[in-house]
Formats: sequence, C-alpha cells, structure tokens
Amino acid sequence: MGWLSWERFRCNTDCKNDPDNCISDRLFRTMTDLVVSEGYAAVGYEYINIDDCWLEKDRSYSGQLVPDRLRFPYGLHDLSNYVHGKGLKFGIYEDYGNYTCAGYPGVLGYLETDADTFASWNVDYVKLDGCYSHPRDMDRGYPEFGFHLNRTGRPMVYSCSWPVYQIYSGMSPNYSSIVEHCNLWRNFDDIQDSWASLESIIDYYGNNQDNIVPNAGPGHWNDPDMLIIGNFGLSYEQSKTQMALWAILAAPLLMSVDLRTIRPEYKAILQNRKIIAVDQDPLGYQGRRIYKNNGIEIWARPITPVYQNYFSYAVAFLNRRTDGTPSDVAVTLRELGLSNPGGYSVEDLYEDVNYGVLTPLTKIKVKVNPSGEYIFKYKS
Ligand code: GLA
Repeated sequence: MGWLSWERFRCNTDCKNDPDNCISDRLFRTMTDLVVSEGYAAVGYEYINIDDCWLEKDRSYSGQLVPDRLRFPYGLHDLSNYVHGKGLKFGIYEDYGNYTCAGYPGVLGYLETDADTFASWNVDYVKLDGCYSHPRDMDRGYPEFGFHLNRTGRPMVYSCSWPVYQIYSGMSPNYSSIVEHCNLWRNFDDIQDSWASLESIIDYYGNNQDNIVPNAGPGHWNDPDMLIIGNFGLSYEQSKTQMALWAILAAPLLMSVDLRTIRPEYKAILQNRKIIAVDQDPLGYQGRRIYKNNGIEIWARPITPVYQNYFSYAVAFLNRRTDGTPSDVAVTLRELGLSNPGGYSVEDLYEDVNYGVLTPLTKIKVKVNPSGEYIFKYKS
C-alpha cells in the first residue's frame, strides 16, 4: 500500500511553470508529509513511489543513473532519507529496456550497476517497466535483474511489467516463473482517469480469472494498477466500486491522487479500514467474479476467519447498468456458495450496518446504484 505518482502527475517536468505539480523532490516530500499527517499511514499506506521521468537523459561518466539535477537537487539518497525519517518506505521506477516508457535511460546493459545504485539509495521498492525491450527477453531479463536486486542484500519489493508486455505481443506469460521472481506484476492496460478504463480492467480480471487468480498469494500479487479515487474521472459511487473491487482482487493499493486537494468523501473511501482489511487479508486469496448477468455482477473473495473449514467471504454486488435507478439484487447465502450451517455474521463494509447472524437459506436483498456496489463481509 502506498502512493505512486504516475496516473495523476504523469511526466510533468515543467517545474518552471508548474512547480507544484512537476515530478520533483518537492512533490514527493509534500506527498510524504500528507500521507502521514492526513492519516493514510495510520491505515496502512506505506510506500512513496516515484514513477517515470525522474532521471537525467544521460548516465554519469562512470555509467550510473543520475536523477534530474534541477528537479531532484539533493539526490535520491537524501529524498529516501526524508521518506524513511517519516516512517515510510521509498520506491523507484526503471525499465528493463534501453529506455523507460518516457524515454529516459533504461537498465539494459547496467543491471548490476543499477541494482547497486538503488540499494545505495536505500530503495525499498522497484517498479521495472518493459518499454523498449523485447518481450521474449523478459523471461530471462526480469529474473536476472531480480537476482541483482537480491544480491545487494537489501530487501526491495519487485514490481514487474513482464506479463503485460508479453500478453500484448501475443505470448502466454509463464506465470509460475513470474510468481517465483516478482512480488507483483501488471497483467493489463494502464489505468486512465475514467470509468470506462476502470470497467475495462474489471472485465479483464473477470474474463481471465482462471489464469490469473491462482497466481496471487502472500508475497506475490496481480496488480490491476493504481487507485484513481479522488481524481477527476470517477463519481463517488464509481470510486467506492474501485476500492471494493480492488479489495476483492487482493490488489496492491497504490493511490495516485493529489493529497493536497482530495475531497473528504474520497479520502474516507481510501481510508476505509474494513475494506483495507479485506484487501490485506492474510490468506492472500484473490476473489472471483461468481455471477454476471444483465449488468449485475457478484464478486466473492474467501478471507479469514476460517471456522471449521468454512471460509469467511467478502462479497461485492456490482451494478454495471446505466438505467438511472438502483437495481434489485436478491440472493441467498447458499446461492453465493456459503454453506456453513452455523450461519454467517453479515456486515456492510461501507455503511457500518451489521445484519446479525444469517443462515445459508436467508436471502439478502439490496438495491445497487448504477455503477455502484455493495460490499459485505460474511463472517463464518
Ligand atoms: C507505462 C506503465 C505506466 C507508467 C508509464 C511511465 O505505461 O505501464 O504505469 O509507469 O509507463 O512512462
């Protein structure tokens, strides 16, 4: 969990005209401060991650990566110290190719050097993108860079874009190797600031769940990309939907939003402790889409506690319809696959309503708003 610059701040390098929003030391220090002072750290957001566009266009004389001298005047060791001083962790972006996606130097040809550089800056997290490289080389290249990261002796979370580039080029990713070498990986398109983008991601993870879901588990996660809650493109309902679905998907929760201006109701979604607890459930199972018909979807994820071999579940009822009135969804617990004869204690995770203990034959009936959802915890 943490904050990542890309979706909201992109490759804005114009610190002269836009000093508050350009990719710079100042932006990351400001977000670090706000993650702590606005209560995000207290609910679990921990990593402050730089994305693309932090580099000088040329390596140093001795071949080292150099942060942009004007925008990161104190260097990244200093910035990393600052982040650590606030009790948070520090992440960085690079690319297994000749260039990053925005055209800055990539790691190809410098794997050892760059892993050492990151360790020397006390980096805790590396996102390794895949532009300007051949997807066929990734089966060797991503493990090789991971090897060099491990060789430094500094624990660093390793975020890979390996599968998504292979899928784009028509290959089937070798997920068992990806699971072995990466902590998280992107499977699908970049998220953009729109409901259409969010829907396309939800569909991808639902339609491909048989290939994707089994790869998730503690220490290795599918990454449906950043949370865009609090930006321009999602309504309040749609924002609640992203948070609920990301929790069902056991997704990394990386916010990409301006924490200086986010409205309180969006902040409350990002800080919903009950939904974060579902996302971070220690079993680490990723949920599945168990029903889809007529614009209504039901997604379910097995979670703790497990009582006499019966899992508890987080269940989201999603309305993808566009007729402007809520849709009724009525389903028994048994129809959801919940069969503990002792029943389940049922709780709404947004509304703070507890329905008490319901038996498998009880019907739950909800009115789901267009592009909204309900998320319940069924505790075994
Ligand atoms: C790719 C990645 C994005 C972002 C950009 C940066 O598109 O998928 O997440 O890192 O590159 O250029």
